[in-house]
Amino acid sequence: GPAIGGGNGGAGAAKKKMNGYVGFSNYPNQQHRRSIKRGFNFTLMVVGESGLGKSTLINTLFESRVYPPKDGDDSSPRSGAQVAMPAGVDITSVSADIVENGVKLRLSVVDTPGFGDAVNNDEAWRPILENIESRFDAYLAQENRVNRSKIVDNRVNVLLYFIKPTGHGLRAMDIEFMKHLHTRVNLVPVIARADTLTPREVEQFKAKILADINFHGIHIFKPVSDHFDDPETISDNKAIASKIPFAVVGSEQYVVRPDGTRVRGRQYPWGVIEVENENHNDFVALRQMLLRTHMEELRDETDVSLYESYRTQKLLALGHVQDNSVFREFNPRRQQEEEERLHAAKMHKLEAEMSAVFKQKVHEKEGKLKQSEEELHSRHQTMKTTLEKQRRDLEEKKSRLTQSDAPHPVAATGSYVEPAQRMASKDKK
Ligand code: GTP
Repeated sequence: GPAIGGGNGGAGAAKKKMNGYVGFSNYPNQQHRRSIKRGFNFTLMVVGESGLGKSTLINTLFESRVYPPKDGDDSSPRSGAQVAMPAGVDITSVSADIVENGVKLRLSVVDTPGFGDAVNNDEAWRPILENIESRFDAYLAQENRVNRSKIVDNRVNVLLYFIKPTGHGLRAMDIEFMKHLHTRVNLVPVIARADTLTPREVEQFKAKILADINFHGIHIFKPVSDHFDDPETISDNKAIASKIPFAVVGSEQYVVRPDGTRVRGRQYPWGVIEVENENHNDFVALRQMLLRTHMEELRDETDVSLYESYRTQKLLALGHVQDNSVFREFNPRRQQEEEERLHAAKMHKLEAEMSAVFKQKVHEKEGKLKQSEEELHSRHQTMKTTLEKQRRDLEEKKSRLTQSDAPHPVAATGSYVEPAQRMASKDKK
């Protein structure tokens, strides 16, 4: 097929017709026949460091070259870009119309080259969050228009987050990213280039990643089964959910199997890894979820839950309080989230009240202590003055007594002493 622009670090969008079989038109529960007939949009965003196999996986996923082929493995401008690129994330979009069994899908793949390639990646999540929110804003602006017939929906329905196959659990950058994005987009973590880990390492790595995700309270997209589902769907969903985070292998190359068939795979000196072999990696499960069983749910989740909560926050911030419950269909998950939010708000208020009461009590106690201290002080002062006065009185009394007790000058010496002399001799005592 013709090469498509937009992959080389510049912003831009391109369109392309594709007729390769993807499978979205085949999924069983097509409750949304209307949208299927009209055709629908599906926007997938890929995030991850350079060289983790993002474009390879996208091309593998859509059995078609969404991205232009690369000449050499590491000589491509995209993988070479990490050296020269300024610390920043470009956001580029490629669209393709895929027609399958008469059903039209407008697929958009949003790439984020440059993510995680800087020296300091503390803020790497920010441009991506901003991009996702600006798509919500654009949708919101259209919703508020009188004529709603031609709404263009560019909201991101799913974000594939590529985790580097280190074997050591999530890195700070991964955690920061997911923490900032999980309330705005359906997060699907994937372990990139899973063929670089042994099956045992993959299992351990998955466990570590899930533990980190749990620990940090990160919400990721997971197929859930409810009581409406038939047993088969329930077990299918469980099988898919059990593979999260999907450990995937992508390839632009074909390998020949022992039976002579050509399949996508990676050739190693010791053998072959087939992309579409469930025993080799989780690619099939990921494709199943994204395109065949949960595409509609991802779109619903985006619309009813993620977008809706963004919209509510936005309107509240603008001072509009609006009750939309009558306009939007009943959604148990949203209801539960609303209840959780209210509960959290209640707890928050309670906590604030308790803290206020505590502060008040401390203040009162401090006041009382201060008062008794002052009382003590003044009592001390009065006591001191009283004692001082008593001392002075006694002193006076003493001096009076000393004067009257003094022997008569004549009687003592037998001679007459002048009064002035007498005073002086007394002072000497
Ligand atoms: P940028 O274009 O730099 O953003 O990288 P990218 O994430 O799109 O990676 P790309 O698909 O260009 O793949 C980079 C290199 O990894 C290529 O040499 C691919 O052949 C190779 N590669 C892709 N997927 C896999 C995989 O699953 N396993 C292994 N071992 N190599 C892979």
